[in-house]
Amino acid sequence: VTLDKLSLNASLSNPVLNAVNFLNEIAGMYPDAISLSAGAPYEAFFSDIDIPRYIRRFTDYLRTERNFSDAEARRVLYQYGPSRGQINEIVAQVLRNDEGIDVPPEAIVITAGCQEALLITFLVLCRDRSDIVAVPAPCYTGALGAARLLGLQVIGIDSTTCGINLEQLARVCDRARAGGSRVRMLYISPDFANPSGTTLSIIQRRRLLAEAERQDFLVVEDSPYGFTRQPGTELPTLKSIDRKGRVLHAGSFAKVCMPGARVGYIVADQLVRDGQGSDHFLAAELATAKSMTTVNTSAISQAVVGGMLIEHDCSLATLAAGKARHYQRNLALLLDALHRHIGEAEAAAHGISWNAPGGGFFVRMTLPVAADLEMLDVSAREYGVIWTPMQDFYADNSGTNELRLSCSNLNEEALEEGVLRLSRFLRDRRVLAPRHQADNATS
Ligand SMILES: Cc1ncc(COP(=O)(O)O)c(C=O)c1O
Repeated sequence: VTLDKLSLNASLSNPVLNAVNFLNEIAGMYPDAISLSAGAPYEAFFSDIDIPRYIRRFTDYLRTERNFSDAEARRVLYQYGPSRGQINEIVAQVLRNDEGIDVPPEAIVITAGCQEALLITFLVLCRDRSDIVAVPAPCYTGALGAARLLGLQVIGIDSTTCGINLEQLARVCDRARAGGSRVRMLYISPDFANPSGTTLSIIQRRRLLAEAERQDFLVVEDSPYGFTRQPGTELPTLKSIDRKGRVLHAGSFAKVCMPGARVGYIVADQLVRDGQGSDHFLAAELATAKSMTTVNTSAISQAVVGGMLIEHDCSLATLAAGKARHYQRNLALLLDALHRHIGEAEAAAHGISWNAPGGGFFVRMTLPVAADLEMLDVSAREYGVIWTPMQDFYADNSGTNELRLSCSNLNEEALEEGVLRLSRFLRDRRVLAPRHQADNATS
């Protein structure tokens, strides 16, 4: 049987949903190319991972701190489990220790990665397809794709190095209301967003929460890169300064523990009133939705992540400290290589620019020409360097002239060589002047 793609769910034809697959395909086609594309964690960190030890730590914790018998501890590991999760107490402690977020374990759902947290959150919060999900433009494709998969309306709000355009967001809310719909939520990464690198200042964070209150929308906060911040420059999460219950806080253990475990979570301590007038946490509704998608997050994976967290005194920040230094160093190396091989002044003269975020995995570059799939194919095939076109990060497919460079999963030599190849590619394509001219121009 051959099925016509157009006979399948319409969202599958949306390029956003295929963005990740496409980049994997390109990487597979050109295995020798240096990938400045993938936002995956640094693989050298995997050599320290000791799964049996973490599972032992977790089952020891069940026996000693939760008074579980051996049989009960075995059941936790091997039996079906509650949809809301099994490491909720540990995650609640991590949030108290690291973020000053104080919520009961019942207000947390442990999910199959942050991705599932986003999907069930969008699914549960949107009453029907007239509800609008506002996202930054550009936005993480996982969030954009999840909203698209659910057939929701998505509107992009300009996001630059200076933050998100709150005036535009207010206009979008007003317009939606006037048209009989509503902006139900804003999805946002306040720290070193993927792909823009944008960080919201404390003033922007407070203004955003005030706007959410004024316009009556919820905020879905997703901050997997906050741990890469330089010591002393920490900013509070939106959730920790939210006094009105506007924020749902999504989390990922992929970047600090391991993506292979597929463990994330969502904090949803808003109250929902049922028909009988009794209240329960929104998390319970999310768990109901989860029970019909993945039933429960793998108990083995939860035990691994739980054990890792217990081993680090229930602090993701402690667990992340050494890794954060690697990512800070790599970002500095990437920016330095761009400076040496292209140079800000020469770039500006040719209409090229890039931002210099204070953390995260990504640098956003703008070209005077389209950074499209055709360009990427030439770059990978002839110059051996892969980057991410940013068009799919935009709800309206704008951003054609932008590309994302990632520094997370490379060593120093590969980063240097990758940027050298990128600069050669740009020079040969006449996006930049050939180097000898540039040397003359700067000498
Ligand atoms: C902003 C953002 N949120 C969430 C995720 C994915 O998290 P997880 O692997 O836990 O699903 C990523 C991964 O790249 C991301 O960049």
